[in-house]
Amino acid sequence: MRAVILISGRGSNMRALLEADLPVDIACVISNKPGAAGLDIAAAHGVATAVVDHRLHPDRAEFDAALAAEIDRHRPDLVILAGFMRVLTEAFVRRYENRLINIHPALLPAFPGLHTHARAIAAGVKLHGCTVHFVTPEVDAGPIIAQAAVPVLPDDTPERLAARVLRQEHRVFPLAVRWLAEGRVRLGEDGTAAVIGVTGGDADHEALVSPNG
Ligand code: GRF
Repeated sequence: MRAVILISGRGSNMRALLEADLPVDIACVISNKPGAAGLDIAAAHGVATAVVDHRLHPDRAEFDAALAAEIDRHRPDLVILAGFMRVLTEAFVRRYENRLINIHPALLPAFPGLHTHARAIAAGVKLHGCTVHFVTPEVDAGPIIAQAAVPVLPDDTPERLAARVLRQEHRVFPLAVRWLAEGRVRLGEDGTAAVIGVTGGDADHEALVSPNG
């Protein structure tokens, strides 16, 4: 499987993917921001990088067309949004239908959009987490492939909670990409995704209770 990773900044999820020894050829890492720290990390891993600067394009449609042209040069089977902070046009999403995935820092369908950690704390939820999902035209709403949950602790700040969630992002994103590479992710007619060959697991892990007092 060949993949292209799109980033906008730090690139820690991209790094987790590059270091997970996946059966995937990462053909290129593309950033919409010229100075993105993740570009240096990708280069240090020997991965080709490219920049498609959204500020050089007059509107979303033209930016997305330029981005698609760069992606298509690499003929990917999978396009991975790893902290890519631009909303994509419907035309772009349709072009990569069923081979475009994203990681979102919340347990979707709760908290789509931005500032998820602050919103989770403000809502008083006791469990929060992250979601790997297929991208559909509606933002943060596509079929869910995998999720990881963490407790929200009484003294959490958005930063502390973000760090706890991010550690799980770095586990669950490589797992999901591996399942995709192994052909184990099936999309249902009902808009859900299922992973083939995952067993029920261990009874000890049946529930994560928070607070656990
Ligand atoms: C992650 O929290 C990701 O879920 C969100 O943006 C952040 C990107 O972080 N979409 P990084 O660039 O992968 O370090």
